[in-house]
Amino acid sequence: MQQWATHDRQALLSEESRPRFEKARKRPELFKDPEQLRGALLDFIADFANWDNCTNADFLSTSRALTQSAHEALGGEKGTRPLVVDPFAGGGSIPLEALRVGADAFASDLNPVPVLLNKVLLEYIPKYGKHLADEVTKWGEWIKQEATTWIRREFSAF
Ligand SMILES: C[S@@+](CC[C@H](N)C(=O)[O-])C[C@H]1O[C@@H](n2cnc3c(N)ncnc32)[C@H](O)[C@@H]1O
Repeated sequence: MQQWATHDRQALLSEESRPRFEKARKRPELFKDPEQLRGALLDFIADFANWDNCTNADFLSTSRALTQSAHEALGGEKGTRPLVVDPFAGGGSIPLEALRVGADAFASDLNPVPVLLNKVLLEYIPKYGKHLADEVTKWGEWIKQEATTWIRREFSAF
């Protein structure tokens, strides 16, 4: 968090979080106070939740460093990652965010539709990228053509 307070990060801070980090830049011992450190972590999360920052490389790398240090502080072995298990994964936002901040994720759900959504979101998109989107577009077009041909043939008499 001390590194997050440096000058080159100033443009990434919101009006709400800037005063605390500016104070920490002038007084590096500020984050020895657990209340201030907790406030800084919450400010960081709030700023990262801003849509404009969600793919920013500085936010991503810092969130991964924080995840790793929390994991190790809680007894996780160096070089391993924490595992986030979500047995009610629904649309998959929790496991997706877990992967983004450097954790491993396990997602499951009672309903097969969310299971498929999670498979696509968490496995197939990272694995196949744009190729998957191109294939979905291609086969979607094929289904549309086939359906149009079938409807024209079946209903041509009317
Ligand atoms: C509110 S949604 C989860 C939303 C998810 N956290 C997100 O951010 O998209 C709850 C999910 O729990 C699943 N669910 C409900 N009862 C369950 C059960 N007994 N076992 C597994 N999944 C269950 C539902 O199918 C639903 O997808």
